[in-house]
Amino acid sequence: MATKGHVSGIVANLVTVEVDGPVSQNEICFIDLEGVKLKAEVIKIQGARAFTQVFESTRGLKVGCPVEFTGHLLEVELGPGLLSQKFDGLQNDLEAMTGTFLKRGEYTPAFSHDTSWKFTPLVAKGARVRAGSWLGEVPESWIQHKIMAPFGLEGTWEVESVAKPGAYKANDIVAVLRNVAGQKMDVTLTQQWPVKIPIRAYEHKPVPYKLLETGVRLIDTLNPMVEGGTGFIPGPFGCGKTVLQHIIAANAQVDMVIICACGERANEVVELFKEFPELDDPRTGRKLMERTIIICNTSNMPVASREASVYTAMTIAEYYRQMGIKVLLLADSTSRWAQALREMSNRLEELPGPDAFPMDLPAVIANFYSRAGLVELEHDQTGSITFIGTVSPAGGNLREPVTESTKKVARCFYALAQKRADSKRYPAIDTIDSYSKYLEYDEVREYLREYLEPHWVEKVLFIRDILLRGKEAFDQINILGDDSVPLEYHVRFWKSELVDFGFLQQDAFDPVDKVTPLDRQRYMIDIIYGVCTAEFKFANFNEVAAYFKILINIVKQMNYTPFENEEFKRREDELQSALLERKKS
Ligand SMILES: Nc1ncnc2c1ncn2[C@@H]1O[C@H](COP(=O)(O)OP(=O)(O)OP(=O)(O)O)[C@@H](O)[C@H]1O
Ligand SMILES: [Mg+2]
Repeated sequence: MATKGHVSGIVANLVTVEVDGPVSQNEICFIDLEGVKLKAEVIKIQGARAFTQVFESTRGLKVGCPVEFTGHLLEVELGPGLLSQKFDGLQNDLEAMTGTFLKRGEYTPAFSHDTSWKFTPLVAKGARVRAGSWLGEVPESWIQHKIMAPFGLEGTWEVESVAKPGAYKANDIVAVLRNVAGQKMDVTLTQQWPVKIPIRAYEHKPVPYKLLETGVRLIDTLNPMVEGGTGFIPGPFGCGKTVLQHIIAANAQVDMVIICACGERANEVVELFKEFPELDDPRTGRKLMERTIIICNTSNMPVASREASVYTAMTIAEYYRQMGIKVLLLADSTSRWAQALREMSNRLEELPGPDAFPMDLPAVIANFYSRAGLVELEHDQTGSITFIGTVSPAGGNLREPVTESTKKVARCFYALAQKRADSKRYPAIDTIDSYSKYLEYDEVREYLREYLEPHWVEKVLFIRDILLRGKEAFDQINILGDDSVPLEYHVRFWKSELVDFGFLQQDAFDPVDKVTPLDRQRYMIDIIYGVCTAEFKFANFNEVAAYFKILINIVKQMNYTPFENEEFKRREDELQSALLERKKS
């Protein structure tokens, strides 16, 4: 029999419940407010008292209201029909809601159970299967959506029967499995999975190594991301975190994108909803939304469902990864998620950690990031989740707990610098402080050498060095004055400006410049490398500045011109003659 209870205390959306039976951590219950059922999750248990976080406003709730426990953890429903959808943190379909806001106690199904899907079996009777084995597939938009053996299966099972090809609905049984003990299990087109438990129905989780092209030069060349990698974008207010994530979402070479808008302002999310469906997919020429899922909880929605939203997004990402798909998961912003954790922890009167965040914040963040990754599936298939989160540290202070905890686990650090954003150098990723740890992995280096060119890594390190030495020269010039430093300092500084203006800065709103394919990045790096390794003749520092401004201008024009067309070639010739003028032979 289901455990029951009644409300014994209310602090905002933390509700304590006296229970008459067993309950478990993270179990879902419904609090009955005069017929309206409010969904809540158990976050702490103390004897016969359960502390629950309510996913709704608790306005009007009274001590004594009855509560019913479900015996289930917070789960999502997985199946065909998720693609192109917009959900809230609890997987309510935001398009299906009545009016502007979901009414309290109103929960909508994640997807229609009435749609017919064209099922094709992938196994035959007698086949031996495990959790996650592909039993059949149905076309969902452009992907072959796999119908998989339930992720909770233990050991090997045998296919007792499988449906013939044909049209089936979500709840129709398409396969029956049986284990050695004779236990049977029906498989439909859908399954449920608890969001806080990772789906681990894969064979191995190797080190990711394949470069993930994003079209952003500052990322691909200087701080590369890999398929199944993790990264984060910390940045003060208004420095371009959201713009950067959206460029990556539109251009990264992945199969599908899941965007989790977590606790951002409602007007930004409205923009996301309006803009995203309009965007064309540069890879297929169709609409980007066809391979996107948006999960959104704005800052005016209850914090508890904000906490759930990142888990919901990750679980859906893991589901598609099991189908052998390359998923990109973006969360904006993980600081708002951490704030939700902080609010609940404070209401629970737990001993606070730094900045009043819960003590286990580093572990919570580490566990979450560790769910991303590349996985090997049955039959030599692979799938991946690349995860990039934004962090919005108050006042741009990178020493606060969320940034510090994230830095320990995310392999790429794309720090946005206020100064850079103020001088409109976009993307405002700090060219010195940012890094990709993947560049140090042997597996990644080997891949880059083979895929791009044998000396790629050395060239990238050389370019990084130019930036660093340019900054040092700039500081010296600032301290000592233009005249008091050797001319060479000016040359160093201007070489780094060429790298910055000519290569790293990229206009997100220019049709050509906004995305640079890797072969074009490699071509441009060779040009820049050529200039940076050359020695020049100058009489004074004014000549250095004037000359490099000409070079920078030509390279910038090249960036705005379609690759290798007539004008591009003309600009390149112009650059070569400018170089001949000054180069020491
Ligand atoms: N790559 C870019 N190219 C051109 N303009 C940009 C770029 N990135 C950011 N901007 C400009 O900066 C503005 C703010 O960017 P964005 O909204 O992404 O900041 P944010 O860091 O997400 O801010 P918040 O902290 O408020 O969420 C944009 O509206 C745009 O004008
Ligand atoms: Mg933003």
